Amino acid sequence: MSHEKILILDFGGQYNQLIARRVRECNVYCEVHPYTMSMDAIRAFAPVGIIFTGGPNSVYEDSAPHVDPEVFALGVPVLGICYGCQLMAWSLGGSVTAAADASAREYGKTETYFDPSCKLFRGLPEQGVTWMSHGDYMEKVPEGFALTAHSANCPNVAICDEGRGFYGVQFHPEVNHTENGSRMLRNFLYEVCGVHGDWTMADYRKTQIAALREKIGDGKVLLALSGGVDSSVAAALLAEAVGKQLTCVFVDHGLMRKNEGDEVEDAFRPWDINFVRVNAGARFLEKLSGVTDPERKRKIIGEEFIRVFEEEAKKIGKVDFLVQGTIYPDVIESGLGNSAVIKSHHNVGGLPDYVDFREIIEPLRLLFKDETRQLGRELGLPEYLVMRQPFPGPGLAIRVIGDITEEKLDTLREADAIFREECARAGEDKNLNQYFAVLTNMRSVGVQGDGRTYDYTLALRAVTTADFMTADWARIPYELLDRISVRIVNEVPQINRIVYDITSKPPATVEWE
Ligand code: XMP
Repeated sequence: MSHEKILILDFGGQYNQLIARRVRECNVYCEVHPYTMSMDAIRAFAPVGIIFTGGPNSVYEDSAPHVDPEVFALGVPVLGICYGCQLMAWSLGGSVTAAADASAREYGKTETYFDPSCKLFRGLPEQGVTWMSHGDYMEKVPEGFALTAHSANCPNVAICDEGRGFYGVQFHPEVNHTENGSRMLRNFLYEVCGVHGDWTMADYRKTQIAALREKIGDGKVLLALSGGVDSSVAAALLAEAVGKQLTCVFVDHGLMRKNEGDEVEDAFRPWDINFVRVNAGARFLEKLSGVTDPERKRKIIGEEFIRVFEEEAKKIGKVDFLVQGTIYPDVIESGLGNSAVIKSHHNVGGLPDYVDFREIIEPLRLLFKDETRQLGRELGLPEYLVMRQPFPGPGLAIRVIGDITEEKLDTLREADAIFREECARAGEDKNLNQYFAVLTNMRSVGVQGDGRTYDYTLALRAVTTADFMTADWARIPYELLDRISVRIVNEVPQINRIVYDITSKPPATVEWE
């Protein structure tokens, strides 16, 4: 790929992915690599600029992650953030110590004063809030460096050696709490590294399609379409690249939300591909009959999914390539060697062992979620698919608590649709990362009209989260909850009580099963 590239060397900072996203938002391609990347690999990567991330260590400790000093001799600009700034100062002859008194340690929002003649702060206000999180202090900055920002407690919040293109900031420009932080990163990229901004989804689409065509030749391609964002975008990309050579198998397990199966089919019908929808609902329901244990449900669905997919794949015969919708956050390895955060569950995770193919293609493995969505839009996918919230592989089977029947699934579908419709109408959906209804297995007494009812309790669940590893319950406005509650009990038979789940993860999980 011939893009201008920024290399982000990761020292274990919690914001490593955020830095990468900010850089990409400036239309500049970047990759995150562990700080242990060899000099040969760095040269081969040919970055136009390098960013050192923050990290939890103190640079003067023996065990602290360091960088080969050769990196400063490449003639490539470097921006050090927090630990990265201290590392740069320490590596180039400055000194860093633990802040002697508490006042020199800085955490949180800090009023900061900038020197606007520094390229990093060019065109920005001379004063603003920055987000700090450091306990160490640069006692002496290296030869040739100027101080370009300070706070009440710290004379050297930012340093630079403009001649060599080395910049360091003690604060985190990548987090939203830092005013104009994105513009500082943009200045580093455009003013210091001299990039032109050649990373756009329109361009990615073009280059990927050319690359896919070359790789696939006249081979056959198979893709398991779930209707989720990643597999849908991957499908659209492959459809544009190789058309009829692509077969998308969409296993409708009958556990989708209201109208979802048809929506997925409608979205892909216009493409000139082989689209197979397998309506396997009855088959799944039969296997699930009488099963109440959540783990058993998951296992049954996972196995049945593979079986159905395998049968369809056999009909196609030998395929050359299997497509997977892996995206960049699944690929990034942390600088300190912790294993990457892998999705804890995956509905098609077992496929490669079962299907006969030559190679796996992962056309989204360099993209963040928001870029994947952007690419989907570029390719003409409808907004409801592109903006779809995460939906678990086992679908509504793990949102109907206890045993599953067609009737219960229908009840849940209706209630869930009302919940989503009202959230969207109120514009609340943009504040929520996931929101859905759960049909509990509990019934209670109610009164409707003049009669007694004995019907199901429905739970509403809505969460905000950055990574789904932890989540907070969403503070949905009472008036909206009220509207949803009134509509559901009036419009959906068999539900006479609505509760709202106010548990975070942990100790609860996002899903109920
Ligand atoms: P939990 O319930 O573990 O959910 O807090 C975290 C996120 O993962 C989704 N989820 C799944 N996704 N297959 C999937 O593809 C599954 O079996 C599965 N279970 C949970 C859940 O919806 C949430 O976004």
